[in-house]
This record gives sequence, C-alpha cells and structure tokens, in this order.
Amino acid sequence: MSRGRAAGVRVEARAKLNLGLRVGRKRPDGFHDLVTVFQTISLADTLIVRPRQSGFTLRVRFEDASLQRPGARRRMQRSRSTVPAGADNLVLRAARLVAERLALQGGADFQLLKRIPHRAGLGGGSADAAAAMAAMLRLHRRRVPLATRLQWAAELGSDVPFAVFGGTALGRGRGERLTRLRLVEPFRAIVAMPEWHISTREAFFKIDQMKKFLTGGAFPLGFGQSVAREEVRPLGALRVGNTFERVLGSHTRAFVSLVRRLRASGLVEPRMTGSGSAVFALLPKHVSSVRVAAAFRGPERLFVVRSMRSATRVTTIR
Ligand code: C5P
Repeated sequence: MSRGRAAGVRVEARAKLNLGLRVGRKRPDGFHDLVTVFQTISLADTLIVRPRQSGFTLRVRFEDASLQRPGARRRMQRSRSTVPAGADNLVLRAARLVAERLALQGGADFQLLKRIPHRAGLGGGSADAAAAMAAMLRLHRRRVPLATRLQWAAELGSDVPFAVFGGTALGRGRGERLTRLRLVEPFRAIVAMPEWHISTREAFFKIDQMKKFLTGGAFPLGFGQSVAREEVRPLGALRVGNTFERVLGSHTRAFVSLVRRLRASGLVEPRMTGSGSAVFALLPKHVSSVRVAAAFRGPERLFVVRSMRSATRVTTIR
C-alpha cells in the first residue's frame, strides 16, 4: 500500500427529520412539489469501506439502537447476522455512480451497520447513499464541488441531496432544492417507531386522491417563504404540520393514539417525519429522556436523538 494511503474509511451516516412538511401539486414528471424543513439528527448508521481489486460488495448488519425499556417489543433480533445486500441497494448505486463519473479504478467492499429504522421517514437509505458517496471520495482522495455532489445525489432519490447537505435546510421542488437555515434552538427529541409501515409512493397517491375533493389553495406552500428568512425555531416549523398525517387511512387511530401517549409522557408537539411511520416529539429542556421513556406507555421502540449540524462524519482508517 502506498504511503499515506487509507486502509479504509468510516462514515457516520445520520438520519433526518422533517420538522414540517407540506405536499403540493403533482408535476408532469410524476413527482410532487413540496416544502419542508429538513433537520439532521444524531441517530446514525455506520458505513465502512475498504478498497478491493474490482467490483462492489455490501454486507449489512442490524443493531437495535432503541432505548432498553421493559414492555417495549425488541425487534431486529437478526442483529448478529450479516446479510449480503442486493445490487439495487442505494449504497452500491451511489458507489457505482461516483466511480463511473470520476472514472475511478478498482472496487470497494462496504460494511453497513444499520441502526436507522427503514421505511420510517427517517431518511436511512438516503443517509447511506450520501455516506457511500463521501466514502468513495475520501478513499480515492478526490474532491468534488458540493453543487455536483448534490446533482449526483438527486439522481439517487429525492431525499439524498439533503443527506449530502445536512444540518438544517428548507427543501423545495421534490425536496432537492435546498436553502441553508439556521436552527435558532438546537433540540433533543424522542423518535417513536410503530410496527406498521407506510409506502411513500402510495402515500403521495392518497394525497392526490384527497385533493380531488378539496378546492385549490388547501395546500399552501407559503411557509417556505416565512422560514426562508434563514432562521427557524423547531416549534415554529413543527406547527406547520405534515400533509402525510392526513392520509394514514386505517393507521389513523394508531397514529392518534401514539401522539396522545407521547404527549402524556411529557413530550411536546408530536409530528410524523416524512411519509412516516416514525413519529417524533421534542424533549423539553431539563427533562430527562430516561424519565420520559419510563413514563411512556406502549410497545413502540423509542430513540433519543438530538439535532446535528452536519450529515456525515468521515474518518480515515489507517
Ligand atoms: O425520489 P424517491 O425515489 O425517493 O421517490 C420515491 C417515490 O415517491 C417516487 O417514485 C414518487 O412516486 C414519490 N415522490 C413524489 N414526490 C416527491 C418525492 C417522491 O411523488 N417529491
């Protein structure tokens, strides 16, 4: 190995919350215009990459990062096993995209330690894709301007650009048009993970159906302008609501119950993130997460998180 060459790269790939989210019209390209405040949080997967002669491989291991609570159902019992992932995994797609655009030589082995629940609205897959891009660049000691990385990210998924951008941002368009915001009050929150999941595609479809019965203007995207003054407070953004909470169908009762139980345990302003199904709520200052978790009644897994200012942390393994 040449002098100074990395034996590998480790990337912390952080999840996101949508503090508020409004879905607008369906566009001719099939995507929906939306306005949202994205926030990076501390819950993270770990991606490790090592160089190999050729080809890209990925093995995934699961780890339960939820609070240990009596009564909460333990999931992810497969945590000990390592499973090879399919070629369509976003990590491999992201790695191949970077390798192709930069004509990089050689392949890479990826190991992914998954802690972010999937199909939750927490942007786990997008975080992993952004981490894979960052890992490939560091491994090959290449620098690419942010604007180019954001373009590549948008080819991988609507939430991947924010997973590259990180921190606090206003998202517009299909989520890929990003404006940096200053989070005036950093916060702690509890994320609750129900056992039911939501299909994002179906949720957008249900919003279209619902809108057929409403007059125009029922979904103003105007809050984009109010937070575009580049400062945002968590409570202000949360009060904007989330359009996806209105199309939960048979899950509505479970959602309403979860919101009520989060409030009853001392948390503030529960809100769904993305198209769900995870629901988060703010931890008031000076209130202990352990106390709140002990007061919470229900089977949902709970995660204690805090707002973060960057999406990834990249370290070189020597
Ligand atoms: O971009 P991504 O692959 O994450 O999107 C998954 C699906 O969600 C899309 O195929 C589309 O049906 C829907 N979507 C949408 N409008 C958005 C983002 C996603 O309709 N802004």
